[in-house]
Amino acid sequence: MRTQVGIVGAGPAGLMLSHLLHQRGVDSVVVDLRGRQEIEETIKAGILEQGTVDLLRQTGLGDRMNRDGFVHHGINLAFSGGIHRINLYELTGGRSVMVYAQHEVLIDLIAKRLADGGDLRFGVSDTQVEGLETEQSTIRFTHEGEQQTLECDFVIGADGSRTYSRFLIPEGTIRKDFFRQYPFAWFGILAEAPPSSDELIYAHSERGFVLISTRSPSVQRMYFQCDPATNIDDWPDDRIWEEFDARLSPSGTGVTPGPIFRKDVLQFRSFVCEPMQYGRLFLAGDAAHTVPPTGAKGMNLAIADVHVLDRALGAYYSSKDTGLLDAYTQTALRRIWRGQWFSFWMTSMLHRFSDATDFDLRRQLAELELVTSSPTAAKNLAENYVGLPLT
Ligand code: DHB
Repeated sequence: MRTQVGIVGAGPAGLMLSHLLHQRGVDSVVVDLRGRQEIEETIKAGILEQGTVDLLRQTGLGDRMNRDGFVHHGINLAFSGGIHRINLYELTGGRSVMVYAQHEVLIDLIAKRLADGGDLRFGVSDTQVEGLETEQSTIRFTHEGEQQTLECDFVIGADGSRTYSRFLIPEGTIRKDFFRQYPFAWFGILAEAPPSSDELIYAHSERGFVLISTRSPSVQRMYFQCDPATNIDDWPDDRIWEEFDARLSPSGTGVTPGPIFRKDVLQFRSFVCEPMQYGRLFLAGDAAHTVPPTGAKGMNLAIADVHVLDRALGAYYSSKDTGLLDAYTQTALRRIWRGQWFSFWMTSMLHRFSDATDFDLRRQLAELELVTSSPTAAKNLAENYVGLPLT
């Protein structure tokens, strides 16, 4: 088999790149270890930046999102006895975010790629990439019991945080990894209940952080900060609702409970690998970088990476110009490190650290007070929350 761009990973980065390339007439094949159903059912975050929303709409992926997603013009920060709205829309000159779950975006992407005749291979095994230093790279894999060899001009490593492709870049001599752990995790639930709030609530409390999000008028997504070793079985529904109320009641708010049909523990990590290119290999999305979930930047950064890659590959195929490809790492990293800073900042402003002193607590509250009372500080949060424009 031969294609122009071989893509390892059918997540947001891989599928979106395949879609964007198709629109400019460049062929690709996408392979993934996971089955289609697993990809379409894996629960992740649900906030799309304005730039992501615009790109989905401009490229024919907006129908279901426009119908089922919810545009939010603001978010709330709850702390020390009060709840404060950040007006994203006014502070950013008319930009906002869309609440639309990542797996819904993937359902839309897969349907569109297949409708456009795209070649997606789910459930592959034994993936092996070779020839990255040559003009002709290959991806070998087994699909439906048959060994396949895919020849391609470029290989895209978009295989997520459990990546195989990142390790094709030699560590030490070429690749450097930047890493940070956090001493906490999030306990996430999906519940059948009406929304507890019209807009998201990010809550600081002495018992730890809470996030009230939503999925639809009848399904709510909520999280509370927990120990990374938390066992889901120790948390029956009643205990979960009591914990939300204990953390939210000091700021005069609470949750509307309902049957919980999903519980998970999300680990926290900040990670970046540099460079994101090695020979004919280009990394995109979580294969190259991970953010802690606060602020929901993960998928948005993945989409921004492939927006850059699509243009760079477009320039290569239209005029053999490699300038944008050569600049990929540098261009992508500017936004990625901004996203790292923002996710770290939101995390550290809102979470309870086990070694935090009373001084640290007062300092966090002063920062929240600043962000909710100074239009300049609020604007900084709002601009980064709705996301930088895709350039
Ligand atoms: C969601 C997740 C986030 O990390 C966030 O900051 C906002 C919303 C969500 O899953 O809805």
